[in-house]
Amino acid sequence: MLSHRPYLPADRAACLALFDSNVPRFFDVAERPGFAQYLDHAGMRWPYLVVEHDERIVGCGGHAVEPDGVSVALCWGMIDNALHGQGLGRFLTEARLAAARVVPGATRVVLNTSQHTQGFYAGFGFVPEAVTPDGYAPGIDRWDMVLSLD
Ligand SMILES: CC(C)(COP(=O)(O)OP(=O)(O)OC[C@H]1O[C@@H](n2cnc3c(N)ncnc32)[C@H](O)[C@@H]1OP(=O)(O)O)[C@@H](O)C(=O)NCCC(=O)NCCS
Repeated sequence: MLSHRPYLPADRAACLALFDSNVPRFFDVAERPGFAQYLDHAGMRWPYLVVEHDERIVGCGGHAVEPDGVSVALCWGMIDNALHGQGLGRFLTEARLAAARVVPGATRVVLNTSQHTQGFYAGFGFVPEAVTPDGYAPGIDRWDMVLSLD
């Protein structure tokens, strides 16, 4: 059964394993400390979810309200690399977009991602605002994308 629930500190190793499964194609190993640091504040400062399939953690992702108060940023979303293409990313993204839609005052959802996954988010209506070649690391471009909630 597929479900999601709030992140707990005990999920840390499982989430880091999800990150590792997506290195080097989707994430650069140099991003790992930043993700670990995010996890250490996840659930306290900003909502973070884990996706479970038959009680095994297969995905994770969160969102945060930007300083402008109207933009909700999707943060650190990922699915176990071995399980891509089975609908889990859609499940995770729909859960995060539902959460973003009920943030008071939110008018848009923003994210940054690589050239490898921008097409996935385009499928949800996100449009590119900026593309930075090698923005994350050599060979991993940064796509800044936005979805209007209006
Ligand atoms: C992006 C990601 C979450 C997608 O997860 P997934 O489980 O493979 O996606 P799904 O199987 O739910 O796919 C949903 C739809 O998107 C499409 N899709 C999936 N990956 C895609 C991609 N990279 N480019 C374009 N379309 C894609 C699927 O074909 C499917 O289309 P359909 O509904 O018309 O059949 C996954 O590739 C991932 O975890 N990547 C590594 C982490 C990452 O780069 N995160 C980015 C932000 S930090």
